[in-house]
Amino acid sequence: MLTPVPFFSGADSVRRNWASLERRVRAVAESGKFTAHAAVAELEAAISGYTGAKHAVACNNGTDALILMLRAAGIGPGDEVIVPAYTFFATVSSVLHVGAAPVIVDVLPGSYAMDPDKAGAAVSPRTKAIMPAHMFSQTADLLALREVAEQSGAQLLEDSAEAIGMWVDGVHAGLWGRAGVLSFFPTKTLGAIGDAGMLITNDDEIAARVRAARCHGQAEDGAYVYERLGWNSRCDELQAAVLLSRLETLDAEMVRRAELAARYTERLAGVVDTPWLAPAECPSNQVWYVYLVETDHRDELVAFLDANGIGTEVYYPRSLSEQPALRDLPGAQLPTPVATAASRRAVGLPLYADLTDAQVDRVCDLITQFHREVSR
Ligand SMILES: Cc1ncc(COP(=O)(O)O)c(C=O)c1O
Repeated sequence: MLTPVPFFSGADSVRRNWASLERRVRAVAESGKFTAHAAVAELEAAISGYTGAKHAVACNNGTDALILMLRAAGIGPGDEVIVPAYTFFATVSSVLHVGAAPVIVDVLPGSYAMDPDKAGAAVSPRTKAIMPAHMFSQTADLLALREVAEQSGAQLLEDSAEAIGMWVDGVHAGLWGRAGVLSFFPTKTLGAIGDAGMLITNDDEIAARVRAARCHGQAEDGAYVYERLGWNSRCDELQAAVLLSRLETLDAEMVRRAELAARYTERLAGVVDTPWLAPAECPSNQVWYVYLVETDHRDELVAFLDANGIGTEVYYPRSLSEQPALRDLPGAQLPTPVATAASRRAVGLPLYADLTDAQVDRVCDLITQFHREVSR
């Protein structure tokens, strides 16, 4: 059998930056300071510089950053937060963790992002925030969603966990509303070798609250003095060191990801449904975090590719309204047919900077062969 093509090639992503990574990791080890110290401060400054955020607050992971962001924005019991039906579980679980009620609305076909009309229709007097998620390769319709938020008096908060490098009208994803987050989960466009995440915001109050909350609510100038209840969501120095080294090649990797995505699109046109890009009302860009295709034969295709050594990832096998942990919630009762259809048809193909053109061609040849056979 030919060499397998894994869905994600973690070791290669680290190998690429090995010299810089080794130097930075050694510096952390020799410093003897292993949590939230110099490397974390350097990473926060670097992400601030990269995104243009006034504040970047590193946390233990993106989910924590979401929870701390919602809490810092004053979201809690009695509040509703409008969220999309097709996203990672944490977009909704974070709302529940702060004691608020998620209201799950359908997404738009193609962009998989919150449908602004559905969000507008779901607004109630209890709506305190609208929290779109930017999925796979492009942002949600931020112009329309900001308008919905403004008209309803709700805050716009962004689950921009997947959206590093995505800009709309010169503003980085996560900075269109009051705050946003980044996830550095290993498979992300900028991935750690473990968990890490970050809050990004231009809002001084939110930043200060999250900064304190990630360290048990400790006062800024007083070790072991606690002004509010928080918890431990510090970022490890080692993860920060790894992320700083990976940041050096992020832009080049995004260019390579875009080349590979274009190759997939060219080779797979007419075979499966290739990604649809929303027409831009203002200058914006795609970042190919995940290359997602749709087919009526998704599960058989996954099995066929697996048998041929090709890794895939089903993002996501259920819409959020169908998740066992969520489906009985009052806010999970709106119809979400677009999300449900995507959950039956969509699958992510291998996509990372180290993938070769030949590997993409092999994946495409197999997908074409599979569809030729099923349509016979
Ligand atoms: C849309 C979205 N939201 C939230 C998260 C949670 O981030 P983390 O895995 O770093 O907790 C992720 C990534 O896993 C994500 O893709």
